Amino acid sequence: MMNSSLPTVLVTHTLPEGWLDLLQDRCRLIIGPPDANEFSPDLEAHLWEAEGIYSLLTIRISAETLSKAPRLKVISNMAVGFDNIEVAACTRRGIPVGHTPGVLTDGTADLTMAILLAAARRLFEANIDAREGRWTTWSPTGWLGADLCDATLGIIGMGKIGQAVAKRARGFGMRIVYCDSIRRPEIEKDLEAAWLDFNELLPRSDFVSLHVPLNPETYQLINADSLRKMKKTALLINTSRGPVVDTQALIQALQENWIGGAALDVTDPEPLPPDRPLFALKNCLVVPHIGSATWNTRRRMAELACENLLAGLQGKRLPYTANPEVYKD
Ligand code: GLV
Repeated sequence: MMNSSLPTVLVTHTLPEGWLDLLQDRCRLIIGPPDANEFSPDLEAHLWEAEGIYSLLTIRISAETLSKAPRLKVISNMAVGFDNIEVAACTRRGIPVGHTPGVLTDGTADLTMAILLAAARRLFEANIDAREGRWTTWSPTGWLGADLCDATLGIIGMGKIGQAVAKRARGFGMRIVYCDSIRRPEIEKDLEAAWLDFNELLPRSDFVSLHVPLNPETYQLINADSLRKMKKTALLINTSRGPVVDTQALIQALQENWIGGAALDVTDPEPLPPDRPLFALKNCLVVPHIGSATWNTRRRMAELACENLLAGLQGKRLPYTANPEVYKD
């Protein structure tokens, strides 16, 4: 039975059974389709009455969206990133934006290592060759790749995920260099990591792994100029956001062997249509934005997003806010 005194919450996607349990009796949920890349028209028609929006990272929430939602008290994004939301416009309206840091750190770091290893050992290419009949003998020079042990991993963005990757990479015997807007002496000691300027890190690294949020400063941080500075054998790993890399420049770099290869969990655009040049390159592994894709991680993200949403509806401080400046104290 629908209780109309409950706050209306728009959930932009259908989620698996149980993931929204925390909200069930506390909100009137209006739920969108399973695979939306934008607000569905049916859901948009309810913006006028929405007090909360529970969104995924594929849904753009702009100032225009906000203007259709006069009663909105909170947006809760089931993601650590929040570049899909016009956060400044939310702050101007006094609307806190929730996100889900921490719970996906290990999952994303694991996936980073998985695709880093896949790129190092050319698993993508080797798998295609085996399937297509080019595995004709045990060749002493077939599918030779790169060692991790003693290789230098350049981490760009030493936040939670960057650190978790560094920890794993140390276990493989890699040397860590990093760049970030701030130096982190405690990490430098624990992980024997050396801080380098961005332009110094690129030519020194055998692997470059990106862990920065997407914002105007990081948009196309990896471009033709930066790719030219990397080693010819270097492998680029991106599990952050697609637009941190200039796709056209990367295609050229891979086609013309400016670098050794790339492994991408994120692309620009997303989803990447199958006819795009990146898919035609054997030295490029592309997986469909699955950094946090384990059952435990996604469920924990869903629950944390529920906790953020409930706090916002109750006028309490969200456990994790993308725009803490919304709180005046
Ligand atoms: C995934 O990319 C996230 O931001 O949670």
